Amino acid sequence: MRLMTKLLGAALISLNAINAWAVDAISLEKQYSVAAKQPASVARGEKFFASKHGKEWSCASCHGVPPTKDGKHASTDKSISPLAPAFNVKRFTDEAKVNKWFKRNCNDVLGRECTSLEKADVMAYLNSLK
Ligand code: HEC
Repeated sequence: MRLMTKLLGAALISLNAINAWAVDAISLEKQYSVAAKQPASVARGEKFFASKHGKEWSCASCHGVPPTKDGKHASTDKSISPLAPAFNVKRFTDEAKVNKWFKRNCNDVLGRECTSLEKADVMAYLNSLK
């Protein structure tokens, strides 16, 4: 019996460890909003996504607006699958991928990393697209 309890405990711990990597678009919005200590805004996210921020591109330059269909990379012309999670089940399921691309794309568009609030707003906007 004690062995069973131990085995069960170990199985639960490893399940939790796997879960730590699995994310979704709603939990990311919450996570960023908590980090920003402010509620996210769909309207702010929509404006942020479609606007340029002092450089050549906006998020929409590659992802399209609204980002519910295939986008096209602004410099390589490569097709990019829809960014809005309701239109692409693979989006926002891999936290490492999300972090990598937020970092790279924010740098391309803003010349710096996005703040937690900017990321929360973008997620709120993307989550609002149905
Ligand atoms: C120069 C083109 C380009 C611009 C501009 C751009 N992106 Fe991207 N983005 C990509 C490419 C390429 C990928 C990776 C390929 C893919 O996932 O389809 C990607 C992937 C992402 C992902 C990963 C999502 C996931 O889970 O799959 C996020 C988040 C993202 N972009 C957000 C943004 C935001 C926010 C902006 C504006 C600040 C932006 N992007 C601007 C090209 C761009």
